[in-house]
Amino acid sequence: MKQNVVKLEYAVRGPLVIRAAAIENELKKGANKPFKKVIRANLGDAHAMGAKPITFIRQILACASFPELIEKYDFPSDVKQRANELLDACGGRSVGAYSASYGIEIIRKDVAKYIEDRDGHPSNWEDVLITAGASMGIKSILNLFAPGNPPDGVLIPIPQYPLYSATLVEFGLEGVGYYLDEDKGWGLDMNELKGALEKSKKTCCVKCIVIINPGNPTGQVLREMGKPYTDEVELTSFMTISKGYMGECGLRGGWLEIVNMDKEVQTHLYKALSAMLCPTVLGQIATDAVARPPKQGEPSYDLYIKEKTAVLDSLKTRAKLVVDTFNSMEGFKCNPIQGAMYCFPRIQLPPKAIEAAKAEGKAADVFYAFSLLEETGICIVAGSGFKQRPGTYHFRTTILPQPELLNEMLTIFKEFHQKFTKKYS
Ligand SMILES: Cc1ncc(COP(=O)(O)O)c(C=O)c1O
Repeated sequence: MKQNVVKLEYAVRGPLVIRAAAIENELKKGANKPFKKVIRANLGDAHAMGAKPITFIRQILACASFPELIEKYDFPSDVKQRANELLDACGGRSVGAYSASYGIEIIRKDVAKYIEDRDGHPSNWEDVLITAGASMGIKSILNLFAPGNPPDGVLIPIPQYPLYSATLVEFGLEGVGYYLDEDKGWGLDMNELKGALEKSKKTCCVKCIVIINPGNPTGQVLREMGKPYTDEVELTSFMTISKGYMGECGLRGGWLEIVNMDKEVQTHLYKALSAMLCPTVLGQIATDAVARPPKQGEPSYDLYIKEKTAVLDSLKTRAKLVVDTFNSMEGFKCNPIQGAMYCFPRIQLPPKAIEAAKAEGKAADVFYAFSLLEETGICIVAGSGFKQRPGTYHFRTTILPQPELLNEMLTIFKEFHQKFTKKYS
């Protein structure tokens, strides 16, 4: 078997999550535990944590997937019109038909227009590809780099969402870590980047840098660096419908935009993508609803804005609650969440806990996360799954449990941490 697949690690769905599922089964069978349910704060999956879908997106999906509804039900006229337009663009007016490999043309055009309106610079729809979530787009681009001796290198932030490190291992590329500056709100530091680049010269030839914005697991937002791109920079940026106010992870929608890519390379990329046929058409339709939401004056506008604002306001309140609570706990230090649904607090673990972890052959933060899970049912991801500065310990939690559950979770967490610290002091 290909050893790179054996070697790759993906902590977000690793042993802690497997144990959480096992505990859920034990609870169903009546096991006696100090808690009644598992609270899954490990995965950025809003709907799994009780978020309600945005009506406009789901009405379009309903009409597109079962066109009889367009005539039979009293959906808003803009929903019916949009569903008809999208169906006209599908083979046989059916979402069951394959689409063009890079996505349905009118959806690519809507996305290009969205990018232009958002960023204030031109976007060429033929350089926009619709993808099955961001993951597929990211893997397609990383797949363009060359393994070998020495392999191509890719600068990746530390801490970092493990899709990138896992994919680099899988593809035989070299991940070159650059540390984000925790003391400066997880900011990106040019000297750190230059140092990482210099060091990498012994093992690989760096061809690419990954920038994650907003940060996962760190939750920070990077600021504009002036002119967004120049003729010398080949840039690919990704967007997903899995996050944000819509949180439609399961529909697998998103896009990538290419700027300044070498034309020959771009042709090979398109060829490779066409070998995968197409992203799901329902995911593409949801992506279109995100890129072209109802405009002011259209029938769906008011409800859309009301629902979107409610989700964003609630996330903002929850972000502050989580950060404030963690910062009130002894041994915790947590940067503000500026734009994602995650936070990555730093925890000081007592030396005896570190020893106990060693005795069990676990990293100390993994030991902490397992203890939390076994004693309270709260499932988080240990910092080592995202990499972190040696000698520091963190974990990632989402802010996605609905407010009542989140409050309950934080209370239980606080009690656990006090007991844990006392036990190992
Ligand atoms: C930084 C980053 N990249 C990529 C992804 C992939 O998500 P999806 O494939 O659902 O778009 C995620 C999901 O959490 C992420 O946080």
